[in-house]
Amino acid sequence: MTEHKVATLSSLRENKGMRVLSGGEEIALFKINDHVYAISNFCPHQHIPKLHDAVSDGTVITCPMHGWSFDLSTGNAVAGSGKLRMFPVRVSNGDVFVDLNDDAL
Ligand code: FES
Repeated sequence: MTEHKVATLSSLRENKGMRVLSGGEEIALFKINDHVYAISNFCPHQHIPKLHDAVSDGTVITCPMHGWSFDLSTGNAVAGSGKLRMFPVRVSNGDVFVDLNDDAL
């Protein structure tokens, strides 16, 4: 396990992505219904690092580049194909930690 503190909970806006760089990874964080998700910022489609700008509708996010959609709760594609690279998240005392060594799915 290699946990990195990547943000504070108060810095995340509900339903908005946030780009962070940590441990050599480019990560998109989302806070949806008070749950924090951490995914690789690189879209499974053309590997463009824009998922932090995705629009969310509940747990489904849509990449701004070509409209592929993914469910943050499963990582699976809803429109398009492929799967998100997801990281385990732990929130403690208002800080957000991400385990960069262990893909959740
Ligand atoms: S790069 Fe995300 S949909 Fe094409």
